[in-house]
Amino acid sequence: MALFDTMLKSGESLFANEYALDFSFHPKLLLHREKEQFTIANAIRPLFAERNGKNIMLYGRPGIGKTLAVLHVFRELEDEHEEILPVYVNCWQNNSTYKIAIALCEAVNYKFYQNKKTHEIFKDLQEKFNKFPVALCFDEVDKIEDFDFLYTLLESIYRKTVILVSNYKEWFAALDERIRSRLHPELIEFKEYNAQEIQDILVQRKDFAFKPGTVSEEAFAAIVQNTLTQKDIRAGLHLMRQTAEAAEEASSRVITLEHVNNILQKGPEEYAKEPMELDEECRSILDIVKANDGIKIGDMFKKYEEKGGRQSYKTFARKIQILAFGSFVSLKRTTGVGGNSTLVFHQEMKKLSEF
Ligand SMILES: Nc1ncnc2c1ncn2[C@@H]1O[C@H](COP(=O)(O)OP(=O)(O)O)[C@@H](O)[C@H]1O
Ligand SMILES: [Mg+2]
Repeated sequence: MALFDTMLKSGESLFANEYALDFSFHPKLLLHREKEQFTIANAIRPLFAERNGKNIMLYGRPGIGKTLAVLHVFRELEDEHEEILPVYVNCWQNNSTYKIAIALCEAVNYKFYQNKKTHEIFKDLQEKFNKFPVALCFDEVDKIEDFDFLYTLLESIYRKTVILVSNYKEWFAALDERIRSRLHPELIEFKEYNAQEIQDILVQRKDFAFKPGTVSEEAFAAIVQNTLTQKDIRAGLHLMRQTAEAAEEASSRVITLEHVNNILQKGPEEYAKEPMELDEECRSILDIVKANDGIKIGDMFKKYEEKGGRQSYKTFARKIQILAFGSFVSLKRTTGVGGNSTLVFHQEMKKLSEF
């Protein structure tokens, strides 16, 4: 009988590479954003000729590849063009001029910012940034509270391209005139993906994440269809992961349409909306992280169990990933005598009601 062939044995997984479904996974081949990448590259290009670069502002709905496109261009700079320094800052985590100053220092590995005032740090950065041409990206820039940093950088760095990224086009119009006139960016819209594009992107991730034949055709078509209505690739990645978990729990070797429908019936998904809302389980895990800041993820799981947590380690680790994605916690890899581990730190941030 083939009874056991259609079922997973305990410990077996449907995933070949689960990491491929993480929002932060960076595929080598970026699909359907060639034009946008060229525009970004063109804004940076004058820097190679010792001229000042062009400033640009990228905008469009969440989950349509804005961050990925910038990081892709920056990766190419890093790998192939050492003469230009790419610096990426996420403004959700760094939402004030002081925090941005620190983030810039860390991005360029500059360690002597302790006990310094913001303007002193910018003086140091000015010296550093004026040695090389720099491409500066400020992602999720609408989360910023004050724009002094931008003014200072625009005034003090000679050869630069500033790339601002936001979900809202309107945000730029609301910016202080003294910054707008200095920045003078070209506005670049990231349009929503169409059905075919969504399908191609999700096929790429599916093929990384699962062994061939794991996701049935009907199940995959339903995932693509759902992503199309939500217009956000993250929604598709999250649905694929949830469905796979449900199939795994049912010991099924194949992800079926029924698994997808079961998940969809459960209603709103828990992936990161902006501002991020956490489900109850994530909130209670976050409380445990707060009380046990900086310990290893395995030990954190023990604390979670002691507090009556009932999920498996795998599910727990996924929730930690969700928290890390929303910058509620940060993760640090360590290598020690006992082998590799991950430390989990609580990250202070504003309350949701303050956004
Ligand atoms: N063109 C694409 N090719 C491959 N993956 C993509 C593409 N566009 C988006 N993604 C994936 O979708 C998710 C959201 O993309 P992201 O760049 O973070 O969106 P945004 O910054 O517009 O909110 C990421 O996990 C990313 O890897
Ligand atoms: Mg983004």
